[in-house]
Amino acid sequence: MLKNINKINTTLDWQVLPSIDVLSHSALDIIVKIAEKSIAKEGVFRLVLAGGTTPKKVYQLLAKTDCDFSLWELYLGDERCLPKQHTDRNSEMILQTLVSKINIPSSNIYFIDAELGGELGAKQYATLIAKKIPFHLVLLGMGEDGHTASLFPGHIHPKNELVHAVYDAPKAPKERISLSQYALSQTHNLLILASGKNKRDAISQWQQAKPLPVSSITAFSKITVLLDEEAKC
Ligand code: 6PG
Repeated sequence: MLKNINKINTTLDWQVLPSIDVLSHSALDIIVKIAEKSIAKEGVFRLVLAGGTTPKKVYQLLAKTDCDFSLWELYLGDERCLPKQHTDRNSEMILQTLVSKINIPSSNIYFIDAELGGELGAKQYATLIAKKIPFHLVLLGMGEDGHTASLFPGHIHPKNELVHAVYDAPKAPKERISLSQYALSQTHNLLILASGKNKRDAISQWQQAKPLPVSSITAFSKITVLLDEEAKC
């Protein structure tokens, strides 16, 4: 089955790992290698982080490495419009699992001010992102309907935006802020993680080249998709 996927898009490197644990270690290796290369070349590593539950373990592993985080810049692919420090915010999950455990200057953390609401928060983040792209690595998860970041199937956004205000999201909360397909694709490397049985259907649609937000994101150099056995269709 997966061979077919590769035929559809030969630029994708699909890897199936036996468990979420092995998947997380593989993701860690990929991130650390790209960080080293980017720092050697440009003195900085610009990384876009994903929300959701799948990358949590990766962040915990990352926090235990001896990477020089003073040269890392952290961005978010999307954020949920909830009050500051709300436990359901992506930034809060990343603070708990990673940022609070590493030595990184607060000036290197570029999270989304989603407490300002969709419109203003998106506008502000777009101004920042315009000065920061391209990224070295964009890390993304995938929802069971094939959404990624907060780009949902059937939602239409203005083509010229780097960051969208999202209303009526089918995953709570309804109001969100998301980097656009264009902004997420302004990256040298893209790493997508999908774990669990409930992702099979979307993986199968992706395999059949059906249009999905997750399959619309591209990268300049390399796209890697890590699936665990359960997510493989
Ligand atoms: C969010 C996300 C979203 C997430 C996927 C996968 O704010 O929820 O950024 O795009 O990555 O829904 O979520 P899981 O990893 O929890 O399955």
